[in-house]
Amino acid sequence: METKAVTRPSFPEAPANSPLPVQPNTVFQVHCGDEGHWRTGSYSPKEASAAECQRLELHSCPELFVLLSGRLTLLLAEKEGVRELPLPLHCPVLVTAPHNGFCPDGPHTGVALVVERDTFVSQYQKPHEWVQQLSAEGA
Ligand SMILES: [Fe+2]
Repeated sequence: METKAVTRPSFPEAPANSPLPVQPNTVFQVHCGDEGHWRTGSYSPKEASAAECQRLELHSCPELFVLLSGRLTLLLAEKEGVRELPLPLHCPVLVTAPHNGFCPDGPHTGVALVVERDTFVSQYQKPHEWVQQLSAEGA
């Protein structure tokens, strides 16, 4: 299992009270944050199918997703297996399971707003490895 830490400073300086620049066709762009608390970003996967998602990530904090445009499906590892969750437009989804995502209409065709802590640790494994682990843990 691979582990990666996000440490401070984990977001760029951002001008307040004005629109922030958003880069098109970017998998993950961190926008801004509140040090010691949260950061936000745009998430737009390049993968276009579940089969292309080689690894799922599990964070040490919950992650909130809100679909802003297009279509974006999350892959969630659970003890019963890997579940696909198409994000409903403009509807917040709080994710605590190992996850990844894809855009069924092609690379970067869906964009979600993401909110997470400004420091956390992530663990990465293949989807079936997460399912085996969660099943063994009875989670
Ligand atoms: Fe994530």
